[in-house]
Amino acid sequence: MNIPKILDLPKYLDPRGNLSFIEQNNQIPFEIKRIYWIYDVPGGEVRGGHAFKEQHEVIVALSGSFDVIIDNGVQEYKFSLNRSYYGLYLPNLLWRRVENFSTNALALVISSTEYSELDYIRDYSKFKDMVRSNEKV
Ligand code: TYD
Repeated sequence: MNIPKILDLPKYLDPRGNLSFIEQNNQIPFEIKRIYWIYDVPGGEVRGGHAFKEQHEVIVALSGSFDVIIDNGVQEYKFSLNRSYYGLYLPNLLWRRVENFSTNALALVISSTEYSELDYIRDYSKFKDMVRSNEKV
């Protein structure tokens, strides 16, 4: 079963302003192939509503806050991201939705794959079937 996990990113607290960073071979448990970001989300909107067959990702709330609701086919987890020094690591085969975006929220997503619509599972019952067959392997 695939389990999401919070990564504690390095932080340099400094009276001049804080600094955090990500290095592929230290903080990120996969080879980085793509970075994208979600911003200007109108109040009340929900993103996601799908899973990935292969893609792993790390989500960071660079600014503001939002909730990531994760379903691994057995259990639901809610992560409220509101600090830019936490990364939420999501392995593949996790159904996710992202909601409750604050004003000016900025979600950075670091991905293990280039964009491919073929990697998306957008049908929840297909997702459940894939989780079941994955567990038999
Ligand atoms: P999608 O991942 O469905 O958004 P979310 O999960 O945040 O609701 O992406 C929306 C559209 O954006 C998708 O249909 C195609 C495009 N897109 C790209 O072209 N490249 C990308 O890297 C991503 C993430 C999306």
